Amino acid sequence: MELNSLSEGKWWGDDCLRHVDGFWLLPQFVEPIDRVVKHFRPLPSDIILASFPKTGTTWLKSLLFAIVHRTSKHRLAMKNPHELVPNLEVQVYTASDEPLTTNPCSRHRIFSTHIPYQLLAKTLDSSDCRIVYVTRNPKDTLVSTWYFVNKWKKAEKEPWPLEVAAEKFCDGLVPCGPYYDHVMGYKKLSSEKPKKLFFITYEELMSDPISHVKNLAEFLGCPFEGEHEVEEVVKCCSFRVLSEHEVNKSEESPVWFQLPYNSFFRKGAVGDHKNHLSDEIIERIDALTIEKFHSVGFMY
Ligand code: A3P
Repeated sequence: MELNSLSEGKWWGDDCLRHVDGFWLLPQFVEPIDRVVKHFRPLPSDIILASFPKTGTTWLKSLLFAIVHRTSKHRLAMKNPHELVPNLEVQVYTASDEPLTTNPCSRHRIFSTHIPYQLLAKTLDSSDCRIVYVTRNPKDTLVSTWYFVNKWKKAEKEPWPLEVAAEKFCDGLVPCGPYYDHVMGYKKLSSEKPKKLFFITYEELMSDPISHVKNLAEFLGCPFEGEHEVEEVVKCCSFRVLSEHEVNKSEESPVWFQLPYNSFFRKGAVGDHKNHLSDEIIERIDALTIEKFHSVGFMY
């Protein structure tokens, strides 16, 4: 598949995103995404975590790692989840067609991606790999994105006003946007092929982590032996525990991103948008959510 970039759109100050086959991508990731689409051939044993940015990727990375590498879950205290589960377009296919492999001796390789299903369909459909998709309430996703971008861009220019961020989010003009199309691409796949894709929301996981983590482990073919085991995994991946590790409090930045490791941990709560968004913005996003999701039976 050839990725077609037709236009550019300003999303933050003068910074532009590239419009590629219906999605807005950060320019620096267009080529790596093209390489993933053209060259990544998932093994049947691979696990691919897909997500829209700021919807719970870090949490799911830690959970997937802890579920699959149960006896090595202590490594989460020493390495940031993004180092343990690399992102295909950000860390793996950065400079060549030859991917690095993660844990080549392990039963399952685990990768993550923010690439929309609409762009990655052929790759994912060509293999029996399992896919896990996490999503999150759009209003909390917007607030988390707004914080993250302001931290990321702070050294460069003026802050990104929340009203502008909300406008861009609703227009779909944020990295990997439109959010709604991203979610619907994977949601549709999960309805059609529930054995291939495990679809979970940040809020479901927060409200009943034990049940959902048990289901996730079964989906991955790595069921838990007892209640204690699942409780341990949930605990070691909780925001409270993970965010306290020195490696996750670090001001150091990874080689593959400008922001420090601690930027992946902020508040880790459901409903933080209520502390930030005006009634008007909330009404606008709620109306969009009803239009985009409820019509297809996804009740967010
Ligand atoms: P907030 O900004 O609302 O705090 P991503 O990992 O996709 O970039 O998403 C980041 C969001 O997930 C941030 O949300 C971050 O604080 C939260 N997060 C990170 N680790 C988490 C964990 N173990 N449990 C719950 N939330 C977590």
